[in-house]
Amino acid sequence: MDALAVTGATGHVGRLVAAHLADLRPRLVLRDPSRAPQLAGATVAQASYDDLEASREALAGIDVLFMVSAAESRTRRDEHRTFIRAAADAGVRHIVYTSFAGAAPDATFTLGRDHFDAEQAIRESGLTHTFLRDNFYLDVLPLFADEEGTIRGPAGDGRVAAVARADVADVAAVVLRNPVDHAGATYELTGPEALTFAEAADRASAALGRPMRFEDENVEDAYAWRRAAYGAEDWQLDAWVSTYTAVASGQVAEVTDDVHRVTGRDPRSLEDVLRQRSR
Ligand SMILES: NC(=O)c1ccc[n+]([C@@H]2O[C@H](COP(=O)([O-])OP(=O)(O)OC[C@H]3O[C@@H](n4cnc5c(N)ncnc54)[C@H](OP(=O)(O)O)[C@@H]3O)[C@@H](O)[C@H]2O)c1
Repeated sequence: MDALAVTGATGHVGRLVAAHLADLRPRLVLRDPSRAPQLAGATVAQASYDDLEASREALAGIDVLFMVSAAESRTRRDEHRTFIRAAADAGVRHIVYTSFAGAAPDATFTLGRDHFDAEQAIRESGLTHTFLRDNFYLDVLPLFADEEGTIRGPAGDGRVAAVARADVADVAAVVLRNPVDHAGATYELTGPEALTFAEAADRASAALGRPMRFEDENVEDAYAWRRAAYGAEDWQLDAWVSTYTAVASGQVAEVTDDVHRVTGRDPRSLEDVLRQRSR
């Protein structure tokens, strides 16, 4: 049996994937093992993506690796590249990476460019791979609202084919059980429909029973109030604002049937995700 490692199991997607695959006795590779989920059969190894030596050790003997993309940071590309190099050095055969919808060097969503860079590093490493190009997560759309329930950003009436984290995890689990069947594949993972932010706000409002609305704004204003409110660095402001301009551009609007193709099940809707969360 292939030895499997799962990263990100202290987070949303990785935790679900590890739980789905507990019978395969995965090795959970974590920055902080003290926060590892309790999972019968799993083992734990410590490594941060930026630590080449620790990552090599944590991945020794592993055949198949689920790599959750790193937290947003200025150094994220280097972190990804270091961990991918460690995987190749350690003899990993197949890597399954959580990328982003339409990852490209000139993607409007600036973090989509980081994902393209990680994909390139994986291609260059020679490892067999499967890319899960996740659209924006349905789970987080309502969290963009402020205390008054207003989602504000330069998205216009663009559409977003957002996908449930749970569907990403379901797809990942299917792929990781039989990686050979998915070697070289790139899946564009979306929900069942593409929503405007106004529609998403209305639907989330009805599902959650609290007022929510979308307010369009221009790009200049979008930068100005975020800079004033959060004092964030430019790369972070670019990422936040380009979340909306990516929707306006149409680059995250295409609905695919990849969730269904891989899992045999229809993808979850916004309401499904919100219902699940309130349980
Ligand atoms: N498509 C979207 O809309 C969207 C939205 C948000 C995030 N994302 C991306 O999708 C990924 C998975 O989503 P999620 O909801 O599961 O995120 P999450 O709950 O924040 O979990 C991220 C996981 O990755 C681990 N991690 C982050 N940076 C790392 C590093 N440098 N080295 C080692 N481990 C690292 C975290 O470990 P710790 O617990 O130690 O921090 C955590 O276990 C995110 O990491 C992010 O890159 C996509």
